Amino acid sequence: MQKLIINGGARLEGKIQINGSKNAVLPIAVAAAILGDSVSVLHNVPNLTDVRTLSAVLEGLGASITRKNGSLYIEPINRMEYEAPYDLVRKMRASIYVLGPLVAKLGRAKVSFPGGCAIGPRPVDLHIRGLERLGAQVEVKRGYIYAQAERLVGAEIDLIGQHGPSVGATANVMMAATLAEGTTVIQGAACEPHISDLARFLNAMGADVDGIGTSTLTIRGVKQLHGTEHTVISDDIEAGTFMVAAAMTNGDVYIEGITPPQTHAVSEKLIEAGVQLDWDRTGVRVTTPGQLKPIDVTTAPFPGFPTDMQAQMMGLLSLASGTSTITENVHTDRFIHAAELNRMGADIRLEGRKAIINGVSSLSGAPVMASDLRAGAVLVVAGMAAAGETTVSRIYHIDRGYEAIEKKLNSIGADIRRVSDSE
Ligand code: EPZ
Repeated sequence: MQKLIINGGARLEGKIQINGSKNAVLPIAVAAAILGDSVSVLHNVPNLTDVRTLSAVLEGLGASITRKNGSLYIEPINRMEYEAPYDLVRKMRASIYVLGPLVAKLGRAKVSFPGGCAIGPRPVDLHIRGLERLGAQVEVKRGYIYAQAERLVGAEIDLIGQHGPSVGATANVMMAATLAEGTTVIQGAACEPHISDLARFLNAMGADVDGIGTSTLTIRGVKQLHGTEHTVISDDIEAGTFMVAAAMTNGDVYIEGITPPQTHAVSEKLIEAGVQLDWDRTGVRVTTPGQLKPIDVTTAPFPGFPTDMQAQMMGLLSLASGTSTITENVHTDRFIHAAELNRMGADIRLEGRKAIINGVSSLSGAPVMASDLRAGAVLVVAGMAAAGETTVSRIYHIDRGYEAIEKKLNSIGADIRRVSDSE
């Protein structure tokens, strides 16, 4: 295993380019590999562990995937393989995305039931409910979800769950509905930018999805989808993470390849906390003219403040001049990073879904451990802002969603080394 050793205290300065969105490319690659009848080419694909894991799942189903210069060439499945086994699914929950498309294309699917993870229980009841509404028979036994249907049939489906809309269920059901007979209307659909990117990709394949970007999606089923070429949208969470990094190191960083609507809720909160954002046509310059101010943040589905930026925001607010709060409404157990930040000198107290963050004047380097992707990201960012050396272990979590994070940050002044655990 590897770890990152961060020599803190440097001010970040310079220009950094944002990659394609992890959470967009995962369902798009699934659609290309399972629903399409011919080759698709995806551009702006980040080189991440999650993308490689998903590629292995899709290759196990019979697709053929080649990566060349940031693009994925996806030749769709060519045999009747319909099982996504435990060994692959356990590595990445997003493997559940193959469920709907497999039933739509092959009439059946057997997908390992994904477990919980470090950010709390992550049920799939809405995915199952949606497919059942499309006429699939679904059964969960011996750790697997079995689904089958001769042909899916369009229906009205409400996908609002206990914690609001579900990104994954919306993607799964929307993909399945593209090949169903008749029209499907999804109420309470997730509106995240990566869901819209998936819908645009499906339409380019010949699907008929209406209402993109809204909470009501209308999908008129078609008989067949073909391969297409698509440039994946940029990663709003990677951009938000680097915005926070710039602000926490009192830096001056230009973040290229991101637009204001993608990061709206995050930008609003950063500005409220005293960060200056100067947008132009290609990106945003991030500076912090004065002391960071305390604020209150509540996570919510898009267009609310994203749960995937909650950890990074907690890092930032730990250096504000007063008491802030963060309420986590999406993944209610997603607070493991608070204890690690406290090891670095932060003053964070948890009360159920709420974190109370008393700002401190500085952080100090410490050995810390990444418990999930975004928890890992905040430890790297806090390590750059802290005095002295921080060692972040279990960085395989970070590599799932940030391509060569240390190289990018070193290019704008950070001092981060990747070493193996034995060193
Ligand atoms: C996606 O996960 C993202 N993953 C997550 O990003 C992100 O945190 C999450 O959306 C919310 O934005 C990918 O896109 C691959 P959900 P997903 O279904 O689809 C509940 C990251 O750091 N729910 O929108 O699994 C669920 O428990 C990752 O990049 C049900 O109750 O999330 C949660 O409280 C981590 N039943 C809420 O809905 C279901 O069937 C939202 O989850 C499904 C979900």
